Amino acid sequence: MNQVLATTALAGGYTDVNIIHDINLHVNPEEIVTIAGTNGAGKSTFLKALLGLLPRTEGTVHLYGQDISGLSTESRIELGLAYVPQVTNVFRSLTVMENLQVADRKVSRHQIDEMLAVFPALGTRLSQRAGTLSGGERQQLAFARALIRAPKIIVLDEPTAALAPGLVQSIFDVIGKLKALKVAVLMVEQRARQALEISDRGYILDQGKVVLSGNARELLDNPEMTELYLGTQAHT
Ligand SMILES: Nc1ncnc2c1ncn2[C@@H]1O[C@H](COP(=O)(O)OP(=O)(O)OP(=O)(O)O)[C@@H](O)[C@H]1O
Ligand SMILES: [Mg+2]
Repeated sequence: MNQVLATTALAGGYTDVNIIHDINLHVNPEEIVTIAGTNGAGKSTFLKALLGLLPRTEGTVHLYGQDISGLSTESRIELGLAYVPQVTNVFRSLTVMENLQVADRKVSRHQIDEMLAVFPALGTRLSQRAGTLSGGERQQLAFARALIRAPKIIVLDEPTAALAPGLVQSIFDVIGKLKALKVAVLMVEQRARQALEISDRGYILDQGKVVLSGNARELLDNPEMTELYLGTQAHT
């Protein structure tokens, strides 16, 4: 029972109708886990339920065995659950340095230097406003802002969605390297094939439910998976 994160029978939604149903998912230490599925399957809703951004209807969320289901989003973040939302994930009018400084109330120069070692592209741009960074650089800044608090797990909602196609693989490469920081990764991705290539395990959501799950390699080789969820990317 050394799981970093675990949900049991998690359900939730925006009104009294649940969008996600009975989701049992876990992430082991230092694992990279992908959640894939079609548009509207409930992937972002699941992440919001994990973070406590939606009222809970059923089920539990545990972080290292501690039941965090009843806690506020801020408390969950303080306990080590980091979240990088899909779009508004940096302060565009602040510089790179300011974005890092406001990521946590007690950020030190040493912590900033540690992040710059992981994301060297940011080091030469400390005084540049985040709004003028390239999409890939901005995504790295968003990761750095989340990681500077030394979370146990980082949750990413479609980290490559807003990127030019040429930058996508470089962001997957960065995510693959997060293992070196001993942080677990849970990401939602439409680019299921590329995401699974760098993942240990995966879950496929459809209409708010887990319809397939397992080892990333097995999912990539699963004919049903290829036909239904990897089809459009089969040749990329
Ligand atoms: N704030 C909201 N209020 C009401 N319904 C919502 C809200 N946000 C999302 N939904 C609905 O919940 C369902 C699941 O949406 P969600 O954003 O979780 O899907 P997703 O799997 O993340 O899709 P995508 O791949 O397009 O990002 C959709 O039918 C959507 O219309
Ligand atoms: Mg989404």
